[in-house]
Amino acid sequence: MITESTVREIRERVESTVSPKRLRHIEGVVVLCDRLCRRFCLSPVAGAAAAWGHDLAREWPEHELLAWAARDGEVLDDEQRAHPVLLHGPAAAAVLRVEYDIADPDVLSAVRHHTLGRAGMTDLEMAVYVADYCEEGRPFLTDELRAACNGGSLPRMVLAVANDLGRRGFPVAGSTREMVADLTQRLKVMEAHA
Ligand SMILES: [Fe+2]
Ligand SMILES: [Fe+2]
Repeated sequence: MITESTVREIRERVESTVSPKRLRHIEGVVVLCDRLCRRFCLSPVAGAAAAWGHDLAREWPEHELLAWAARDGEVLDDEQRAHPVLLHGPAAAAVLRVEYDIADPDVLSAVRHHTLGRAGMTDLEMAVYVADYCEEGRPFLTDELRAACNGGSLPRMVLAVANDLGRRGFPVAGSTREMVADLTQRLKVMEAHA
């Protein structure tokens, strides 16, 4: 179980190690993630641990990212090899596990996959993924995204984010494509039974 005091320790570490710009982003993610956790009946403490910790390694040099990601047995794919910055999620998850004794698989996975997503995301993973992209400080936030975050289900919010990535012309990573296919399928099933 994650305690408030563990969340405070992660917060203090982040506040004293990341740049002011990164800290503002992380604070925005904490706010939106908390809102989503309360709305969808997820643990706010688990959400806070993941939100405070998700970018703790975002400004690390590549060799540290590689070393920490390897610690949790991350098998690098082509995208991660070409862009080691993508390892900041897996590296942060390893830090939370090793240095803060966080064992909650949902929290670790939410941190690990917050950048690209994956097929089979849990509700907490979706909340952190959406909060990371849609926090109020994001300069690219659109009215559509704001509206998506204020209504509908978590899968719909995640799909709105993926849609926006496409609209902005970003190459869509393999695991993001798998996430979109999985959530589209899940929504079809949910709607067929509604
Ligand atoms: Fe990140
Ligand atoms: Fe982030």
